[in-house]
Amino acid sequence: MSIFYQVRREYDLSHLTEEQLTQTPFELFEQWLEQVMKIEAVKDPTAMILATVDSTGLPSQRTVLMKSVDQDGLVFYTNKQSKKGQDLANNPKVSAIFPWLVAERQVIFSGHVESLTEAENDQYFASRPLTSQVAAAVSAQSQPIDSRAKLEQLYHQLLAKYQGGNVPRPAHWGGFKIKINQVEFWQGGEHRLHDRFNYIKKNGQWEIQRLQP
Ligand SMILES: Cc1cc2nc3c(=O)[nH]c(=O)nc-3n(C[C@H](O)[C@H](O)[C@H](O)COP(=O)(O)O)c2cc1C
Repeated sequence: MSIFYQVRREYDLSHLTEEQLTQTPFELFEQWLEQVMKIEAVKDPTAMILATVDSTGLPSQRTVLMKSVDQDGLVFYTNKQSKKGQDLANNPKVSAIFPWLVAERQVIFSGHVESLTEAENDQYFASRPLTSQVAAAVSAQSQPIDSRAKLEQLYHQLLAKYQGGNVPRPAHWGGFKIKINQVEFWQGGEHRLHDRFNYIKKNGQWEIQRLQP
């Protein structure tokens, strides 16, 4: 038996107009992110849902935190031996979506990842709180484990060892930059007439199209 959900509402907060478009998608993204960061109900404004594909072509998704953005792309950090890390080693193509539903907005990026340098990885790892460093070091992310107790035991052992800091960065822990070739901005509109603009990179230049809702 199907359960039907009558969940629907009008999207009428705002419009995205041609006049608001910036030359590159990054300026518009930064403007939107600044605005979304001021909305208290949005708890993780920099969280993006990252889609990868495995060697059979099967997609999978998970949330990661975007840590920096510039004209070159978006950076996130992870365990490179995780499920997503294995996918990316095999196929660097990704899609990432920022689902800012409270603002009736979504931004969808597509591109491919490139690894950050070891120096960049070290610098960011060293900037993390000690507990996050220890957690990254003990977790063989995406591998099965017998119990939470086992995980906590490993965590507390390592925490005791590195109370003074200087947790070595695991070699398999680091960052990726998503080099972007397409970005779609979606602003919900009245009567389901949403505003959608697609930036596509062609020969180093950004071309913009308005898409039908
Ligand atoms: C709000 C939020 C932020 C997260 N940030 C990260 C992150 O920055 N890096 C990361 O590896 N996992 C992050 N995770 C956990 C991932 O969603 C995921 O569970 C983990 O990376 C393993 O994914 P995989 O098995 O597909 O590789 C976050 C989860 C949530 C809900």
